[in-house]
Amino acid sequence: MRYAKSMAIEIKSVTKAVIPAAGLGTRFLPATKATPKEMLPVVDRPAIQYVVEEAKRAGLNDVLMITGRNKRALEDHFDRVPVLESQLAEQGKDALLAAVEESNFLAGIHYVRQGDPKGLGHAVLCAKTHVGDAPFAVLLGDDLIDEKDDLLSRMVEVQERTGGSVVALMEVPREAISAYGAAAIEAVEGEDGFVKVTGLVEKPAADEAPSNYAVIGRYVLSPKVFETLENTAPGRGNEIQLTDALQTLAQGDGEGEGVYGVVFTGRRFDTGDKLSYLKANIILASEREDLGPDLREWLKEFAQTSC
Ligand code: UTP
Repeated sequence: MRYAKSMAIEIKSVTKAVIPAAGLGTRFLPATKATPKEMLPVVDRPAIQYVVEEAKRAGLNDVLMITGRNKRALEDHFDRVPVLESQLAEQGKDALLAAVEESNFLAGIHYVRQGDPKGLGHAVLCAKTHVGDAPFAVLLGDDLIDEKDDLLSRMVEVQERTGGSVVALMEVPREAISAYGAAAIEAVEGEDGFVKVTGLVEKPAADEAPSNYAVIGRYVLSPKVFETLENTAPGRGNEIQLTDALQTLAQGDGEGEGVYGVVFTGRRFDTGDKLSYLKANIILASEREDLGPDLREWLKEFAQTSC
């Protein structure tokens, strides 16, 4: 089996997370004209904070954020605000102070700018110098995974076993697949925790998709992806597509090649999409102790009177 061959080589563990957050967020205009979509609040924290917390839960304490023009708010959010902090301390507002300070110490966060948003593949390539020659995770800054789910840790385990790259797959209705990268998959003998990805297509027409398995915003990649991205021509939308580089890696069986998939069946919210963003706010707020009871009560009344 492919991964048995890789076991013979030195396995480097995954310690770094890359969070691409340089996209233009056009689906959320005009809100994203001057505000990064990753800074839009989900209940009371910006979406990006959930993503950094997820990386930290998986043990990835070195985070590289790919940012761009209009994205300064991301850096400010993960930095200290001494004036605000001392005022809250003086006023004895301890809970608020703790909430403000929480994002200062989440992880070691580094930033690199993607001057021109030439696609997700190009954004990942901007991480090459920081990441070096070890496998690394990629978490899209606008994609939220339920914090009860250990998806990323499972993906890291599969990467360490196979030595290849790992994508997260979610089954979606056929009519929805053209919004995603779609994967052709096959079972791996003796394994039920992951599948082999034999091909990938970015945003296919529904009748041309190889399956209903969509690639969602979590990846654990072999460093081989950098060399592959450097040789990947612009694809769909004239952007350098990560999916195209993964398609190349899926065809190979050399060191660092091969692509595997972990099927995700939990809850996920694409906060770059308006409807999904609204659902994220309602669902997550309704589960909060401080907001949930009143919100659920109001939702019942609202559904009865307005739907
Ligand atoms: P999206 O496909 O959601 O693109 O990117 P977008 O431009 O941000 O949003 P829309 O479609 O115009 O509304 C997926 C992820 O990849 C990042 C985005 O920030 C997002 O987290 N990305 C995309 C980059 O970092 N750079 C790019 O050039 C493109």
